[in-house]
Amino acid sequence: ARNTLTDGFGRRISYLRISVTDRCDLRCRYCMAEAMTFLPKSAVLSLEEISALADAFIARGVRKIRLTGGEPLVRRGVPDLARMIGRHLETGALDELTLTTNGTQLDRQAQALYDAGVRRINVSLDSRDPDRFRYITRWGDVEKALEGIAAAKAAGLRIKINMVALKDFNEDEIEPMLRWCAGEGHDLTLIETMPLGAIDEDRVDRYLPLDKVRAALGENLTLTDIPERTGGPARYARVEELGNRIGFITPLTNNFCDGCNRVRITASGRLYMCLGHDDRVDLRAALREGGPAALDAALDQAMALKPLRHRFEIDKRDAAPAVGRHMSVTGG
Ligand code: GTP
Ligand code: 5AD
Ligand code: SF4
Repeated sequence: ARNTLTDGFGRRISYLRISVTDRCDLRCRYCMAEAMTFLPKSAVLSLEEISALADAFIARGVRKIRLTGGEPLVRRGVPDLARMIGRHLETGALDELTLTTNGTQLDRQAQALYDAGVRRINVSLDSRDPDRFRYITRWGDVEKALEGIAAAKAAGLRIKINMVALKDFNEDEIEPMLRWCAGEGHDLTLIETMPLGAIDEDRVDRYLPLDKVRAALGENLTLTDIPERTGGPARYARVEELGNRIGFITPLTNNFCDGCNRVRITASGRLYMCLGHDDRVDLRAALREGGPAALDAALDQAMALKPLRHRFEIDKRDAAPAVGRHMSVTGG
């Protein structure tokens, strides 16, 4: 690429996460408060604007794009957006276009996503038990999510299940989830809960360090570290007895910021350089008022702002979250 994106610490930025909406049809307790205020529709970028931003990043060397939310599929037209961005897969300018979703709309949209060039998706699923799923999402129907996952598999999409490991909620379900994933041909990634945005409970009560989980899994299963990465933050192990892979996303117990290759755009067009910091650049203004040259300049300015690492910790009761915005604003 003409002029690749490199931050002040020499890290190449090749992975762009785009939140297409901050809204969601669920309210996972560790993610959102029950009463949330969402962006007014007028503040949200059009799909054409999002596509134009994707073009600008690809021209600067981004090779992987992930659509996120909130729940991306509650916004109308996301498969159309995927088709617009998917053009770059055909030319070889982009290696991967993918999506992180809660699965509830996948039964209707999986095939269109596949047709747009998506080959692999991540689906959040913290429990397969109907009562637990309803509890953690506040009103979700696990059958709907499981139907969505099945539809995605039938459409030919490879699937990685994302499970936030939560104390006194799904700790006893991690090994069963891994076995179910193996049976279905899915990989599993476990995630440590992160202090983003105010929620209705205390994250201390739910925090489950993954080093402990990994040790427990090791009693019944052989986990062999593998060097393969997907370009995201997870570190993977092969589960010898089951044949699938397990990933660990450990912002609290094993910081991975050294190798960070990511930035993220919110639904309103703000570029955040780190999940754990407030530094941002207004790409919407650059796009609307300045055009391509202003956009390029904004990207250079952004690179200089990218912090070395986040400072997440979950140890003090009643502590304010590290950053005020929820995961659903920045899309993770
Ligand atoms: P793969 O492409 O499959 O590796 O996916 P991914 O892990 O990059 O994406 P996904 O949307 O599935 O993210 C899984 C979790 O990782 C989410 O909770 C994200 O918020 C989190 N995550 C992604 N990037 C970062 C990061 O830079 N810092 C932190 N702390 N968490 C991140
Ligand atoms: N900490 C960790 N993971 C979170 N997610 C949402 N909020 C948080 C949080 N505060 C997860 C979702 C989804 C992924 C994109 O992020 O469950 O799997
Ligand atoms: Fe929605 Fe995902 Fe947040 Fe759950 S974790 S409320 S599915 S954005």
